[in-house]
Amino acid sequence: MHELFITFFVFFCQQVSWIRKRDSHILTVDRYTFIADERFQVLHNGDTWTLQIKFVQSRDAGVYECQVTTEPKMSQFVQLDVVVPQTKIIGESELFVKSGSTVQLKCIITQSLEQPPYIFWYHDGGRVVSLNGKHQSVERVNSDTTIGVLVIKSAEKRDSGNFTCAPSNLDAASVLLHVLNGKVPNLK
Ligand SMILES: *[C@@H]1O[C@H](CO)[C@@H](O)[C@H](O)[C@H]1NC(C)=O
Repeated sequence: MHELFITFFVFFCQQVSWIRKRDSHILTVDRYTFIADERFQVLHNGDTWTLQIKFVQSRDAGVYECQVTTEPKMSQFVQLDVVVPQTKIIGESELFVKSGSTVQLKCIITQSLEQPPYIFWYHDGGRVVSLNGKHQSVERVNSDTTIGVLVIKSAEKRDSGNFTCAPSNLDAASVLLHVLNGKVPNLK
């Protein structure tokens, strides 16, 4: 999902293999790739053998071994930690408000090493634009947390529905908003 590249370096001149310790899978031997996953690739430059993993995912986390076929064998171990950003909207997954009230939806993105370039809000699938009493803002609150806020001033019945916070390249989160015609008497 992410366009991240994880690169390791070793400096040796013997035959070099990269092994994933989790399942003892041999990933590469010299320039050859032995895993049926195109995200893995070895880059060779002089005495540097770099294991590249594209679009790194949480399941890639773990220990990787670089092994050199000297006698005796030499190994170097590298621990790869993968941090996966989490998106959620603060509060209950369903929200009930009276018409005329101000609604504030807060979308919190944690464990994100970089601020998402943008956060889009959707209402029942359509992009929410900052018009007609709707206002959006984004704030980086600390080194791994971003909060996107959508404010709906004087909510009306037609503002009911599914609101989704979609940060670029990350998981989305949704909340179901119900705007109730609170105290309006039902006279016929
Ligand atoms: C709200 O919309 C999102 C995105 O389309 C969808 O994944 C989610 O299931 C919807 N939630 C509800 C309660 O309908």
